[in-house]
Amino acid sequence: MSNELERQVARRRTFAIISHPDAGKTTLTEKLLLYGGAIHLAGSVKARRASRHATSDWMELEKQRGISVTSSVLQFDYRGHAVNLLDTPGHQDFSEDTYRTLAAADAAVMLIDAAKGVEPQTKKLFKVCRMRKIPIFTFVNKLDRFGREPLELMDELEQVLGIRAYPMNWPIGMGPEFRGVYDRESRAVHVFSSEGRHGESQVEERTVALDSPDILSALTGNELQKLKDDIELLDIGGDAFAREKVDRGQITPMFFGSAMTNFGVRPFLDDFLELAPLPLPRLTDHGDVREPGNEKFAGFVFKIQANMDPQHRDRIAFLRVVSGRYVKGMNAHHSRLEKVVRLAKPSQFLAAERTSIEDAWPGDVIGLFDPGMFRIGDTLAEDAGFAFEGVPRFSPEHFAVVRAKDPLRRKQMEKGLEQLAEEGTIQIFQQLQMGMKDPIVGVVGALQFEVLQFRIEHEYGAHILLDRLPFTHARWVVGKDFDAKAFDWEGNRQTVQDRDGLPLVLFRDDWALQHAEQKHPELQFLAAAPQLRDGAVVFAPKV
Ligand code: G4P
Repeated sequence: MSNELERQVARRRTFAIISHPDAGKTTLTEKLLLYGGAIHLAGSVKARRASRHATSDWMELEKQRGISVTSSVLQFDYRGHAVNLLDTPGHQDFSEDTYRTLAAADAAVMLIDAAKGVEPQTKKLFKVCRMRKIPIFTFVNKLDRFGREPLELMDELEQVLGIRAYPMNWPIGMGPEFRGVYDRESRAVHVFSSEGRHGESQVEERTVALDSPDILSALTGNELQKLKDDIELLDIGGDAFAREKVDRGQITPMFFGSAMTNFGVRPFLDDFLELAPLPLPRLTDHGDVREPGNEKFAGFVFKIQANMDPQHRDRIAFLRVVSGRYVKGMNAHHSRLEKVVRLAKPSQFLAAERTSIEDAWPGDVIGLFDPGMFRIGDTLAEDAGFAFEGVPRFSPEHFAVVRAKDPLRRKQMEKGLEQLAEEGTIQIFQQLQMGMKDPIVGVVGALQFEVLQFRIEHEYGAHILLDRLPFTHARWVVGKDFDAKAFDWEGNRQTVQDRDGLPLVLFRDDWALQHAEQKHPELQFLAAAPQLRDGAVVFAPKV
């Protein structure tokens, strides 16, 4: 490996934050940028989001709903590290985009509201991270308010998610009495100053060794006693720290803090970047892995976003670099199309602004101008003859039959549906019953129906009607003798096929699904789309 490639790989960290809405992801993201020096006063990311609304009109929906529909990639430097934060939508509903972004991440930060603990969306996203076996770090947020006891939260992670937590630090006090955190490795206390302007700038902190006589100038006698008791409990009852278990996602290093006041943000960032993995290799369809240190450039598309700028009707494909060095304007083999393409107009993203870049390294994400030749999962590489294992498609949870209000606009509607399916906003299924021509669309979060309606109308000029269906699960069915017809509509399930012609069954509820699983032990009902080669399943993600 060349020295430069080695150096660039060693300094990169690529991760995503997973959380339930309102846990504080936007706030934490902003604080990470603040500590990374990418912004100078916190508050500007939110402000910029607001001003972006004024210029971007397909984001009209965001404005109306006050939510963020798209996600971006933020890059910043911190103490010699090049950090890529893959920002995922944080609103009430979420889309497959969120899942897919995790395919491009090498680690996840699970953000938890101290008062609420593990919430439904955190659970779903956690499962996807588990499936990928990537390291998961936990940041317990909002310690400046009264929440659950830290020990109780550790217990909840184990009970609800089945993962043991290793606290890297421990909070001193909670609510208005939240004073700082104790770092278990260095056995020092970081005490934060509550002076200053509500977390707009970095918080002042003082570090005192627990055993130093100075400790009583930092903490009260009661605080010190409580801390010592807690530490004893952790040291006796807790697990030992094991780096390999972190790497495999078997234990989660846990941190405490308050994104709002910045308490605990720096200690978290320092340890996290120390422990987070370097860019990870990726599996190829030959069953081997592509190492980041391979000199030849390779990457895969994990997200496509159209019409970010309504003036230009552009389409951007987001590519995660897996190996080698990307150089602006270079040629690469497009494995699906089996031809050489020029990777033009790359951009990188900082706090939602696009800047043109000259090169990129493993772990980075580049936005490529897409004249319509990229799909999610596509592999681009300097050398031909392989593809990365695909980016999984997950079962939608909401379904509707879609029709054009004006039959003369059906073509436009179909074009729009195709586009949105390529972007991964929706999945399209064909009904298998006789005479049922209208497609069914499936989405992961119900809000995507609104996005769908809005975009088809504004970008393709077709009004659509959606008839919601009572299904909640779709399962790709694999089995030698699976006969889709025999599975036809029974009142609580329906057979369809996806755009690749793979059969699925839609189920009304858990009960209907379990019933089918019991009745047909010879079949596999998969919650994520399997990958096939020559008709045989080569990869069936377990969710
Ligand atoms: P999200 O992206 O995960 O949805 O959460 P976001 O950061 O928008 O935070 C949700 C709410 O929680 C915001 O309050 C935010 O200020 C608050 N918050 C975030 N981190 C902390 C924290 O460490 N402590 C406390 N006490 N609150 C926190 P809001 O009232 O909805 O919005 P805003 O008016 O403050 O912007």
